[in-house]
Amino acid sequence: MSIAASSESPPLEILPGRVAGPFDFRSLFGNERSAELEIGIGKGRFLLAQAAARPEVNFLGIEWSLKYLRLAKERAQRQGLRNVRLFRADARHVLAALLPDRSVVRVHVYCPDPWPKKRHRKRRLLTPATVAHIERVLVPGGYLDLSTDVAEYFDEIRELVPVACGLRVAEDPLFPIESPGGRTSYEAKYIESGRSIHRATYVRPGDAAEPGAVRAGDVKGSRR
Ligand SMILES: C[S@@+](CC[C@H](N)C(=O)[O-])C[C@H]1O[C@@H](n2cnc3c(N)ncnc32)[C@H](O)[C@@H]1O
Repeated sequence: MSIAASSESPPLEILPGRVAGPFDFRSLFGNERSAELEIGIGKGRFLLAQAAARPEVNFLGIEWSLKYLRLAKERAQRQGLRNVRLFRADARHVLAALLPDRSVVRVHVYCPDPWPKKRHRKRRLLTPATVAHIERVLVPGGYLDLSTDVAEYFDEIRELVPVACGLRVAEDPLFPIESPGGRTSYEAKYIESGRSIHRATYVRPGDAAEPGAVRAGDVKGSRR
């Protein structure tokens, strides 16, 4: 994506009409720092908490609901966060058409809509095509973090991922971290009502010495 030349810093919300091609993260954020992606940010609780805690990392949030995206945008503006970009779009399209290979160090997908009825399954976010694109957009050594409160969906995801792509269960997932900034709104709501949250972290195998690869220290602690 090329953003029209301007002396101002790049805008917080990416407007669909200004997206002319695959994202250029340097132009999107105005710097060359590593980027993390959250798909289905809801009102942005997790993304904004992470962005505030780790200003050295860029955060791109994708959300289909315009209402939620606008709420997240207002919150990001109120907090003066400069390392956040928000895009109202279908994440499946963003993954397939707008994210370059090896462009993000971590992908977060928390409590995606489970669509439990069989006839609605095709609406699910996590399909073979989606997870293959997630692998493609991650740098070698990059992580995919997932959660859901639906045990059956979790089992299906765990069966799907290793068949559909080269992502592997991370041995060092750096995962269950109990702090307000480490939870999404849905996770917090479900935990409060006594439901279990199922989690998995996957890693894109590859030599961290490859150009564009991530060092473990670059991505540690994203759920802190
Ligand atoms: C159940 S909510 C979870 C929100 C948040 N991740 C959390 O855990 O609090 C799922 C969110 O994903 C968004 N969503 C669903 N499908 C999407 C898609 N294809 N692209 C972008 N966002 C999507 C929905 O609008 C909704 O905000």
